[in-house]
Amino acid sequence: MNDEMHKYLKAVGSRIRCELNDLKRTTESAAKELEVPLKDLKDIIEGKKDEETTFRFIDRLSDFYPIDGKQLYLLKDDTINGIRYMGSSASYKSRRVFNRKSKSGELKPYYEYRDTAMSRLCLFKPEWILMLREVNDFDPYNPDMVLNKGHNLHQFGLFVGPVNFYWEDINGINHCTKMQTRDSNYITPFLKHSFTTRDANELAYIVACTNGGEVSRAQREAYALGPELLKNFILNFRSKNEASIQLLKQYIFNDIHSLDSIDKLLKSFDKKLDIYKIISTDTAITSYEYEVLSSILKVEVSDLVFPEYREEDDMVLNYNSSTKPHSYPSIENPRYLIHQCAKTSKMPFLKGSIIEVLCTETDISYPIKRSLHTYMINFGKSEINLEYKYKDKIYKKKLYPYDSIYLKPFIQFALGNPSRGKSNLFCVGISGSMNLAAQKELSTLAEPPRVITELQEWY
Ligand SMILES: [Fe+2]
Repeated sequence: MNDEMHKYLKAVGSRIRCELNDLKRTTESAAKELEVPLKDLKDIIEGKKDEETTFRFIDRLSDFYPIDGKQLYLLKDDTINGIRYMGSSASYKSRRVFNRKSKSGELKPYYEYRDTAMSRLCLFKPEWILMLREVNDFDPYNPDMVLNKGHNLHQFGLFVGPVNFYWEDINGINHCTKMQTRDSNYITPFLKHSFTTRDANELAYIVACTNGGEVSRAQREAYALGPELLKNFILNFRSKNEASIQLLKQYIFNDIHSLDSIDKLLKSFDKKLDIYKIISTDTAITSYEYEVLSSILKVEVSDLVFPEYREEDDMVLNYNSSTKPHSYPSIENPRYLIHQCAKTSKMPFLKGSIIEVLCTETDISYPIKRSLHTYMINFGKSEINLEYKYKDKIYKKKLYPYDSIYLKPFIQFALGNPSRGKSNLFCVGISGSMNLAAQKELSTLAEPPRVITELQEWY
């Protein structure tokens, strides 16, 4: 068994210990109930058994107790020294062309897809997509353009070259917009969209950084709950004030209060308050009403407030020509020019930028460091040097044009542009399962590190 596998099986053993603690089973009592020799179970928990035996035990555990055994199949870190790298030639080899109908009704090439760097540690699925269908207008109903059906993933996209972008809005109306190099967009899951080129002789492509969010992670449970139950969780976000009221009612009913009983509590605070007025959709809930309600329900105001719907958040367009880049780390020491890409407050941890590297040498004493899983692709003509720090060691990597890379959260990195040519690095970050809600909860625990190091019984 190699070191990595041993480390992995020790982690799985710790996770099994944690689950047995949750079930209030000692090693002895679990071994007896599950009819497993005590020595074997001790070895499994200490990571001394092989993978097959360990997983067979997890299956036995989840058959016997009402638990989701798949949660114990821990993720295997697929990074090498904290990163995953995909060179341009490996990307090129993964290319595949898909046809769509043309205006004559025949199937003709539409896109060429190429894989870029990915890791199983996060829900990024970034694709390099070449536009093969040429149009010569901006008609959103151009018969040569074919919308897709939309997809489950959020899409954060970078445009390179003369690309037309099309989408069907929530009311079923098509739109087309002219995009150019360095423009970017955000597409809400399941909105139909498409891309074409305005000039087949010029390179026109997008980097579609599709990524799963909380809903993707909740899918496993959602399938089990089924469509009828899932409907109850869907708040009416696009109708004025409705989602806020539905959410408020959910809190009230979860506390086994009725509207009448909560109204009495409200009135004991302030006679003028009326729950029936608060939940009428005519007016938005005021901040004073939220404050009183949050103190009655013993939750934070931020837990009660649901963001207001803005149609422009469904499809966010960012034109590079109308955004002003900033110097990093400072105007006095401008190592990079950072061009912010499309943003939506719905996805506060989805952050995209174009990094223009101004310095020739890398210098890790001015690091970029983020809490996010980071994906980068060099879409410029200059090679870029990457220097990064992982577990107190410094590593170096060259990013040639079309090379892409994934970096684990909190890795510090610095970039250099030895040729001084115009550099273009698309850099996107997303949060993983350790999202804001998980981070808040983790931080409040008495001994947070024990979440992944539990080796002891609970008493
Ligand atoms: Fe897409």
